[in-house]
Amino acid sequence: MAAEFLDLPQLLFAAGTVRLPGSKSISNRVLLLAALAEGETEVRDLLASDDTERMLDALKVLGVGTTHLGGENWLIKGCGGQVPIKQAELFLGNAGTAFRPLTAALALAGGNYVLKGVARMHERPIGDLVDGLRQLGADISYLGNDGYPPLHLKPANLVLGDSVKVRGDVSSQFLTGLLMALPLIGQTATVDVVGELISKPYIEITLATMARFGVQVQREGWQRFTVPGGSRYVSPGTIYVEGDASSASYFLALGAIGGGPVRIEGVGSDSIQGDVKFAEALAKMGAQVEMGPNWMEARAPQSGLVAVNLDCNHIPDAAMTLATTALFAKGTTTLRNIASWRVKETDRIAAMATELRKLGAEVEEGDDFIRVTPSTLKPAAIDTYDDHRMAMCFSLAAFGTPLRINDQKCVAKTFPDYFERFAAVTKAALVIAIDGPSASGKGTVAAKVAAALGYAYLDSGALYRLTALAAKRAAVDWADEVAVATIAAELDVEFSGSDIRLNGELVGDVIRTEEISVGASKVAALPAVREALLFRQRAFNKAPGLIGDGRDMGSVVFPRAALKVFLTASAEARAERRYKQLIEKGFSANLADLLLDLKQRDERDSQRSVAPLRQEADAKLLDTTHLTIEQAVNQVLVWSREALQ
Ligand code: DC
Repeated sequence: MAAEFLDLPQLLFAAGTVRLPGSKSISNRVLLLAALAEGETEVRDLLASDDTERMLDALKVLGVGTTHLGGENWLIKGCGGQVPIKQAELFLGNAGTAFRPLTAALALAGGNYVLKGVARMHERPIGDLVDGLRQLGADISYLGNDGYPPLHLKPANLVLGDSVKVRGDVSSQFLTGLLMALPLIGQTATVDVVGELISKPYIEITLATMARFGVQVQREGWQRFTVPGGSRYVSPGTIYVEGDASSASYFLALGAIGGGPVRIEGVGSDSIQGDVKFAEALAKMGAQVEMGPNWMEARAPQSGLVAVNLDCNHIPDAAMTLATTALFAKGTTTLRNIASWRVKETDRIAAMATELRKLGAEVEEGDDFIRVTPSTLKPAAIDTYDDHRMAMCFSLAAFGTPLRINDQKCVAKTFPDYFERFAAVTKAALVIAIDGPSASGKGTVAAKVAAALGYAYLDSGALYRLTALAAKRAAVDWADEVAVATIAAELDVEFSGSDIRLNGELVGDVIRTEEISVGASKVAALPAVREALLFRQRAFNKAPGLIGDGRDMGSVVFPRAALKVFLTASAEARAERRYKQLIEKGFSANLADLLLDLKQRDERDSQRSVAPLRQEADAKLLDTTHLTIEQAVNQVLVWSREALQ
């Protein structure tokens, strides 16, 4: 499968309103309790995502009735604690919120089950939960490494001792899983937490959701939890899933960095989710935050965001958003007490540090902390480690630089249309794309329009010319696609003003010779070379805006350009212009040869299979055969002003 990626232009500002998808944590808890309850439950606003799909699939395999009512609404037919199918193999992907609670529920419900996931799921610890369940007599064996999935559960005679002891300092999902399963025993059961309980707000969600299904857990602080004998789950009839507070964090941060206000709806001060506390953390960074029962809003402070030093144990997921927000805060931000990051979808501390460094930030990491000092950001291709939150967090960095997000579709775990919502509330630096054949004068026009608008200028043809020159110098044949693409990917070029440097050497004139023009046209026809130069071109899409000139600016590189111009002139007029240029520079030239050469190059540029030169349907045609440069520039400026309004 071809690698997928999303290239983000630099963002100028953010404002707008977003209605959030349902909370992942609440969705999967509600699904499981609805399945175990007596009676039918109509679940409204369920999150549609990979993780909830894994849970729904598992429930179906277990014989629980699940009916899609349309939209985000489902009807779950509860089994009253008696799981209908007693022998099954469940595949749970990388969904921790499905794996842990199902392990506990099925171990206590009794049956013969195999629970598996993706490779990463098999690296995520579950031993503490299994130890807890074994204290109740559950028969669980490891099919791979001790302490990790996959698991084999068998029917067992349950025994109730004084209390079950479970570690609370690795993942709160172990305690959640146990607590949600305990009513299946039917007798009073007590859990003692060993070690400091992390991510306490997730336990609050567990207790609140159990209460909605009729089970009141008694607790002594965060140390001891008792499920009274005779507790059983009963459907509340209809239950609404709150918007996802962790997902809210990205949009609040967008408002805090990008001006705002950005308002999110579906979660607010009435929420049972701990991650709403993210808003407080953002306010500590200086953001102006307001909130109502089911909405929150953030905007940027006048004086800019400031760094914080924060214990993030209570907001482990949303704290990741602080790590990329820190790129825009003055000073060094330290996020402490985040050891749980190391056992999530990926080792999030390591992943975050590696990718922040790619952007130019200074990062220090420890077992349970990360420290981020911002600097001027530079374009980079960000890896996401199959971790939805990595992809969403790094989208914020686009306020500092254009960037590439690899495998962006991993957001489907919790927020499949994240990037559509993101685009709807952000405004990116604009592009004016000017495409056309050789010597049409587009370079001159583009540079003048850029100067008039104060925009940056990308001469994309120069990149193909530089590639041809670099290949020639390395004695690489222009037809050797792999070798030329490698050279293109590693080009050390610098554009400053009208100067173009290759490996530090000024090459502005060298790349304009006829020989290199021919070479450029040849290497430009190689798909791997075009691919290697794609991100390098998009990295020019910075604030305040960009004029790009070339052959495929409007079709491939910047398909969302605010204005697309197809600038051309008759071959004869172009040959004549080129002839004059050369003579003026003191080179000898022959008009007939130039015309022939130009026609051959036109042919190659427009007939090649990748990104051929052609006028896009939405491009405006500007024929400059009979126009002066001035007239052509003015026409593009008139169109630009219309497009930029
Ligand atoms: O615009 P120019 O003459 O400097 O371009 C040099 C070569 O690079 C030309 O043969 C076409 C090719 N090119 C391209 O294929 N795509 C672009 N966006 C720009 C140039």
